[in-house]
Amino acid sequence: MRYEKITKELFIENRNRFILKMKSNTISILTSNDVKHNNADDIMGFTQNNDLFYLSGIDQEETILVLYPEAYKKNNREILFIKETNEHVKIWDGEKLTKSEASEISGIKRVEWLKDFEKVLQLMAFEADGFYLGHNEHIKRVTKDQQTQQDRMILWCKEKYPLHDYHRVAKITRELRPIKSDVEVALIQRAANISVESFKRVLKVCKPNIKEYELEAELTYNLVRSGGSHHAFMPIVASGKNACALHYNSNDAICKEGDMILMDFGVCYANYNSDTTRCFPVNGKFSKRQKEVYTSVLHCLKEGSKLLLAGTLPEDYEKEMASLVEAELIKLGLLSANEVAMQDIEKPLYKKYFMHGTAHYLGLDVHDIGLYSRPFEAGMVLTCEPGIYIPEEGIGCRLENDYLITSTGNVNLTEAMPIEIEDIERLMNNKK
Ligand code: GLY
Ligand code: MN
Ligand code: MN
Repeated sequence: MRYEKITKELFIENRNRFILKMKSNTISILTSNDVKHNNADDIMGFTQNNDLFYLSGIDQEETILVLYPEAYKKNNREILFIKETNEHVKIWDGEKLTKSEASEISGIKRVEWLKDFEKVLQLMAFEADGFYLGHNEHIKRVTKDQQTQQDRMILWCKEKYPLHDYHRVAKITRELRPIKSDVEVALIQRAANISVESFKRVLKVCKPNIKEYELEAELTYNLVRSGGSHHAFMPIVASGKNACALHYNSNDAICKEGDMILMDFGVCYANYNSDTTRCFPVNGKFSKRQKEVYTSVLHCLKEGSKLLLAGTLPEDYEKEMASLVEAELIKLGLLSANEVAMQDIEKPLYKKYFMHGTAHYLGLDVHDIGLYSRPFEAGMVLTCEPGIYIPEEGIGCRLENDYLITSTGNVNLTEAMPIEIEDIERLMNNKK
């Protein structure tokens, strides 16, 4: 692995918290994700299933975790199944986890080869009343039309054990994962620190006529050399009006003199993510109008993030952010106070210039799992990302930080990433 070893206590504690939420006399089965293939004989890469990782720390394909806390036999209570390795596998595929390495990473004593999964499960299945199985319950999931490893496990298990009760792993992990432990916060912080360095590199090299993808290359270079696994998502490097397309990521335009660039990027380190957005002028000096829009968005970020507090309801936070942006749109002359006073509240006018939400959970997923009906709590990590997009002026501005909610307020994990206009201009003009 590219990342430093994570203490196994994290995964042991996560399992302890997880099994406390399981119904009595049930077995949880968690599977890894599929390896994604390309057209021919190559693969596009592997991303571990985050629930499996959260409970085991195992970052390898073809892994199954079985938890049966009330099993009669003690050695049936936690079993990890991994892909068999041997000298032959080593020659062709390189190093795969041995049983003792998997045990050391996860803190699980009993590790078996995957080929024995069905046989081992059969020996304990009828002792239990039900199963917990994994499924993608993300509100914006993109797996709904494709069969995943989890879907196959559900089909297989229900066919083999039709009279058991069935329950959802995701219901438990969605409750637990939003509250980060100190170890998890440190991993997100590490990802954020890499992002900070990447951003500073970009400010140093940016100049008129550079291509957006050349700036993306700076992000990639710094990420890889710092031990990041991959971008948290396809980075958005959007100059001029490209910044008004929220999911722009072709990054193939030339950055023109006088334009402003919006860069939304994140680092995945040890499966934990950062997610930040900064805007900066191609030529190192904000124009008067860019400065006005930027100052408005920065004001919304500073004021809005003060509401990321334990006890605040996400809905109230979003409403407050919307009214902050609305007030700025009036100041910028984009909306008039009169038309806002008369607006249909079902169709608020600010949505023309600000059309997305401004806080999402951050962690093992960039848009991490968690309910948005639940009040914020200490230990949650959320982004704050107000924006104003004015296609007719070729200006799109979003600023995004990552915050840890604590019992006394919140901590900006991305504090070290330059955001004040003077700091950005100074760094861009002092390129040595
Ligand atoms: N880049 C995705 C987001 O900011 O939510
Ligand atoms: Mn982002
Ligand atoms: Mn975000």
